[in-house]
This record gives sequence, C-alpha cells and structure tokens, in this order.
Amino acid sequence: MQTDPRYAAALQRIVDDLRPVIEPEQPGIFLVTGFIFISAPPSVTPFHIDRENNFWLQLRGRKTMNVWDNGDREVVPATVVEDFIAGGVQVPYQEAFRARSREFQTGPGDGVYFPSTSPHMTRTDTRWVTPGDGVSVSLGVNFYTSVTRRTARVHQFNRILRRLGMTPSFPGQSPAADSIKAPMGRWLAAARYRRLGATPPPGAY
Ligand SMILES: [Fe+2]
Repeated sequence: MQTDPRYAAALQRIVDDLRPVIEPEQPGIFLVTGFIFISAPPSVTPFHIDRENNFWLQLRGRKTMNVWDNGDREVVPATVVEDFIAGGVQVPYQEAFRARSREFQTGPGDGVYFPSTSPHMTRTDTRWVTPGDGVSVSLGVNFYTSVTRRTARVHQFNRILRRLGMTPSFPGQSPAADSIKAPMGRWLAAARYRRLGATPPPGAY
C-alpha cells in the first residue's frame, strides 16, 4: 500500500524521475498510487481505460501490452469516455481494434507510459516460462494531474449537454469553452455525488 512510507517514497521517486517529461504537458501531479500485478501465465488483463495517467513497469518475467491512443475516437468514442468518467461504465472491446494498437513485448526493466483514458490490455503467455521462473511481476504507477482533473470536469459537463441533444467539443478542442465548462462540470458532479450520498472516485471531477 502507498500508505507504507517506504513504498510511498519509492513511488514518489519514480514520479520525480518522470516529472521533467510529464510536467511540461501536464503540471500539478497529485495522488500517486501504485499497483503490483503478480500473474502466473497464461493470464490476461482485459481491455479497459483508467482515469489516471499510468507509468507501467515490468519487473520480472515477460508481458505483452497493447496500448491505444486516447484520442482514437473509433476505439473510444466521446460518449464512451464520458460514460466512464462520469458513470464508471467500462469501454467495450472489439477484436477489430487490435490492429489500431501499439504492441509492446516487455521484459524486466521495460516501462510504458500512457496518459489517462488510453485503452490498454495485457497478456502473459507461457513461452518464456522455465522451471523456477514462471511469474510475471509488474508495477503500475498511477497519478492525476491538473490536466486529468480539468478534463474530467469538462466531461462531466459535456455529458449533460449531450443529454440535452447537443454535440459538445471534446476536452482540449476548445480551450475557451473548456474554461467555462470545467467549473460548471465540477459543480454539477459535486452536486450529483452529494445527492446520491456516494463517494466519488478520486479524480472524477
Ligand atoms: Fe489499467
């Protein structure tokens, strides 16, 4: 758990190394969490998107990772991203999507970075397995930024506009529109979660 001070410090060191690459585009990194994936081949992590930016590191064994561009609207239409950010509904997979992904064959020491809402899936097969070496271990370092938060707020507002029959611009397409939508999306989401009496997922707005 990132509540353990030594583990939290290790995650923070990884993020600090990434900072010069991330922060020019996405300042304000916050809420760094880490997930350790231990899998015995054959195993798969199904196609999905996450709210956070993700720096994923292969520590032991081998794993194949497919990652899609988070701007590929054939794979993740705007409505699908909104439904996920505002409603937690996961994205559906079609085998035809595979050709549009980038596939990485990873081993110990390899890392893949992909920003918020980039679809991804992983699999590990048995080809590399030898007696005594048959476990794949990966570390996913997840974090939010001022950009992921603002984007989530715009999605919250866009979802309402879409329900009113409009076709709103996607976050980032119109900075002027975003600067109006973001505070309203934040307010709408806060009001909705209060009404539901539910705790919003981190980074939901
Ligand atoms: Fe993920």
